[in-house]
Amino acid sequence: MHVGIIMDGNGRWAQQRGLMRTQGHLEGLKAAKRIVKAASDRGVQYLTLYAFSTENWKRAAEETGFIMGLVKQYLRGEMNFYRQNRIRIRHAGDAAGLPPDIAAEIAAAVADTREFTGMQVILALNYGGRDELLRAVKRLAVQDRDMAAVTEDDIAACLDNPDVPDPDLIIRSAGEYRLSNFLLWEGAYAELYVSAKFWPDWTGDDLAEALDAYRGRDRRFGGIGEG
Ligand code: IPE
Ligand code: IPE
Ligand code: MG
Repeated sequence: MHVGIIMDGNGRWAQQRGLMRTQGHLEGLKAAKRIVKAASDRGVQYLTLYAFSTENWKRAAEETGFIMGLVKQYLRGEMNFYRQNRIRIRHAGDAAGLPPDIAAEIAAAVADTREFTGMQVILALNYGGRDELLRAVKRLAVQDRDMAAVTEDDIAACLDNPDVPDPDLIIRSAGEYRLSNFLLWEGAYAELYVSAKFWPDWTGDDLAEALDAYRGRDRRFGGIGEG
């Protein structure tokens, strides 16, 4: 099973407490650690965490810089945990548009965990669904093939992590009913689950609730289902 999470509400969580937005991101990081552990314990095979969108660069440099620093800290601090739990780290998004030190840190984590066969955590960082599609089209274009004969599978093969199955469930915290450019191609038939809770307040129980809700869904993929 592949679960994608739009980890939203860090800023509002902080605002509600009269704290800086950066404090919300710090607590959001702790929530991400809890959820990675809970997902791994529950046998989720793929977990995509939307950590920073291609549009999030619109924010103040102080905030974007802080988030990038947190990502670095997260990858370094969790390496033992990944090793113990055989968790494989991957990246989705445009690495070329990341600060070089962050891109290098991600590349190192991806390389160090490449052989692990437990849960795969796909970090969506400087990720946008449209940007991913655009980069996929460019990859196709340089393959010098007959573009008139291109298939859906050809496009899917040029996405950032072509071997990762489409998400079954997309969760969004903090109550917003939108995708905000997350997994536009891959999420075509994902079940959606929105929780009002701000991301820093998320625990393993919230993930369990979302997974329970998913189990009750009737996925038809355009067919007529089982009635
Ligand atoms: C999500 O929390 C984290 C990122 C987008 C990086 P926000 O920072 O968007 O929090 P809100 O939506 O302002 O509450
Ligand atoms: C989506 O949250 C991106 C991430 C969680 C990384 P945003 O806070 O950027 O989304 P909008 O702006 O409310 O749509
Ligand atoms: Mg937000």
